[in-house]
Amino acid sequence: MKLTLHIWRQKDAKSPGKLVRYELDDVNEHMSFLEMLDVLNEQLVAKGEEPVAFDHDCREGICGMCSLVINGIPHGPDRGTTVCQLHMRRFRDGDEITIEPWRARAFPVVRDLIVDRSAFDRIMQAGGFISQNTGSAPDANTLPISKEDADAAFDAAACIGCGACVAACPNASAMLFVAAKIGHLSMLPQGKPEEYRRARAMVDAMDAAGFGNCSNHYECEAVCPKEIGVDWIARMNRKYLRATFRKRA
Ligand code: SF4
Ligand code: FES
Repeated sequence: MKLTLHIWRQKDAKSPGKLVRYELDDVNEHMSFLEMLDVLNEQLVAKGEEPVAFDHDCREGICGMCSLVINGIPHGPDRGTTVCQLHMRRFRDGDEITIEPWRARAFPVVRDLIVDRSAFDRIMQAGGFISQNTGSAPDANTLPISKEDADAAFDAAACIGCGACVAACPNASAMLFVAAKIGHLSMLPQGKPEEYRRARAMVDAMDAAGFGNCSNHYECEAVCPKEIGVDWIARMNRKYLRATFRKRA
């Protein structure tokens, strides 16, 4: 198929960016979206032009590195799918596709389609861990945990830290990401000792990084490739409130 691509090109964080038009022929419907960009980059390199910079690693929906806004939707049109798992058969011959980076003040553009997501690392460093020594894997498995709690913790733990929730939110809020991380650690007995300190520290780090607040648009849930629900945000808010009272007491 033949496509017209409009891709955000930006030399570095300080330079202004703009959408640049590219025509691409012979796109195979079995290619992934990132393979299609690989083909474009091969052609650009062959012509002596700068290839388009974009983030990727596992290309299996696991690592959270891929981060493209495709026709206005983070990770593209398919629900519950990372952009690395999106295939070109989702598009039609002659389509025009706009490709942009995540847009949020807390995620400054580094180059082209790559943004700096280290704000997420700072939130994790503030409290995204447990202090308990769980021993080896068999030791951890000797602790009985109800199936409901294990399933819920696993659902939240599916967050890959991609940041699509931030990119989709009109307030550039990181609350779905932070809620998922606080949720999965606090759900399990090993994560209980510091659950209130963790909630305070991670929410404070999120605010310090410049993310906005949730005002119930639900756009985060709609684009999350791991289909994490906004109910985790309500749980986080309750935990943070309790943590605030405990701090004052
Ligand atoms: S909550 Fe979903 S969209 Fe947000 S970082 Fe985690 S996986 Fe990505
Ligand atoms: S490249 Fe790893 S999730 Fe897409």
